[in-house]
Amino acid sequence: MKAPAVEAPETFVLADAEAVANRAARWLTETATARAGERFSVCLSGGSTPRRLYELLAEERHGPFPWATTHWFWGDERLVPPTDPQSNQRLAREAMLARAHVPEANIHAMPTVGLTADAAARQYERDLQARYGYGQIEPGRPLFDVVLLGLGEDGHTASLFPGSPLLDERVRWAAGATGPNGVERVTLTFTALRSAATVAFLVVGAGKRDVLARVRRGAPELPAALLRPAGRLVWFLDDAAAGITH
Ligand code: 6PG
Repeated sequence: MKAPAVEAPETFVLADAEAVANRAARWLTETATARAGERFSVCLSGGSTPRRLYELLAEERHGPFPWATTHWFWGDERLVPPTDPQSNQRLAREAMLARAHVPEANIHAMPTVGLTADAAARQYERDLQARYGYGQIEPGRPLFDVVLLGLGEDGHTASLFPGSPLLDERVRWAAGATGPNGVERVTLTFTALRSAATVAFLVVGAGKRDVLARVRRGAPELPAALLRPAGRLVWFLDDAAAGITH
């Protein structure tokens, strides 16, 4: 039986970070709206890049968003309280979830208080598997509709860092990790992150140009280059990250 054709990645290159955030917000609004009435699940990225996207979604700048049927998850989190400025959950709540009055029942944050990173990861993995209804990913049945990811200058994505043994993890859906500054983190593994109808990277700024080029060439030492989405892969880039000068 022929392997399903792997679609070529779709790339949107926009003039600047604001244009990237708007194009991604329009795309996500259209994608979610096309599934209105059905449960729609989005795995959020942390870092600074997606903040503007989250704000635009909350403003419904590109049309009404199906908040009631959309459920929100995280690809990674720092092991800090949700009130901590480093918290990815705090970022998403402030920029979007609170402003859009998203029901708490639709918000599935990674637990970060009173647990070790590994215990938090195991709890999140149990929660994900309970929602999915099965302890193993089934081909053709994505865990998420959309996974949003960023790219670190070292080529990491989520909290999967270069040289980490987690890059070879094929069973666990979530695991504890340690960030560059020693901050404990919880991250989904490639097993979970790849299980999406669409994986969308948002990458902006000249500082990401070199690592982005290496990732898109498939440099095996870079975690973001190792992700093999089961569905579509979409890149939202600005000129600076794409290396386009006018
Ligand atoms: C995190 C993110 C991380 C982020 C990249 C890019 O928790 O830090 O999950 O993977 O997406 O480091 O971060 P910026 O968007 O801030 O450049």
